[in-house]
Amino acid sequence: MIIGKKTRLRPIEKDDLPRYVRWLGDPELRSYLNTVLPLSQTQEEKWFERNLQSGNEQAWAIDAQPNDMAMGPWQHVGSCGFNEINWRTRAGEVGIMIGLREYWGRGFGTDALQTLVAWGFYSLNLNRVTLRVNADNVRAIRSYEKVGFMLEGRLRQATFANGAYGDELLMAVLREDWARAVSEAEADAEAGPSTN
Ligand SMILES: CC(C)(COP(=O)(O)OP(=O)(O)OC[C@H]1O[C@@H](n2cnc3c(N)ncnc32)[C@H](O)[C@@H]1OP(=O)(O)O)[C@@H](O)C(=O)NCCC(=O)NCCS
Repeated sequence: MIIGKKTRLRPIEKDDLPRYVRWLGDPELRSYLNTVLPLSQTQEEKWFERNLQSGNEQAWAIDAQPNDMAMGPWQHVGSCGFNEINWRTRAGEVGIMIGLREYWGRGFGTDALQTLVAWGFYSLNLNRVTLRVNADNVRAIRSYEKVGFMLEGRLRQATFANGAYGDELLMAVLREDWARAVSEAEADAEAGPSTN
């Protein structure tokens, strides 16, 4: 289990898979993920078995507490993980989805990604974390910027959805940027609120 501020990441269990099937039945959610077809329970089970054996893929369930005071039972709200880790260059690509729409825009995605990226740098000893996002997914891009991801490139007309091509952005955060941002945030917290 990896503990964040508002979320926790835990290994995915077989019992979780029906929720993935339900979430990915939503065409809007699939359009953000560039997943064209809904996935069946059987396909999810095959993915689950493959993921268990993979040495360069790590998927986590995201649990959140619905109450903003961070109290009450944990609820499974989504998934995130490293889709691909290159152990030689120490680079990993991440992906994330909050499957339950009522949890969008409440800070859970940013917290889960912050937790995953910290895990990547501090526990997996990665040096670079990347992701790809549709250029029109403003909520996701804003969330990624808050985590510290910077724009590295635009892949023109790399996606196709709703009858139109769209651009895809490549974003990345380096361990040195991350460590600097964390120590600046800690210094700000120690200095207390600004009087300006
Ligand atoms: C992308 C995702 C993980 C982000 O997690 P989240 O919990 O919804 O996002 P957060 O609440 O942490 O942060 C979203 C930020 O975007 C802002 N935002 C939301 N909608 C926005 C919009 N239409 N325009 C601009 N900013 C927007 C929010 O205000 C917030 O920023 P703030 O804290 O500075 O105010 C989640 O929305 C999700 O899973 N969406 C569906 C699947 C998806 O898009 N996955 C990513 C594929 S690359």
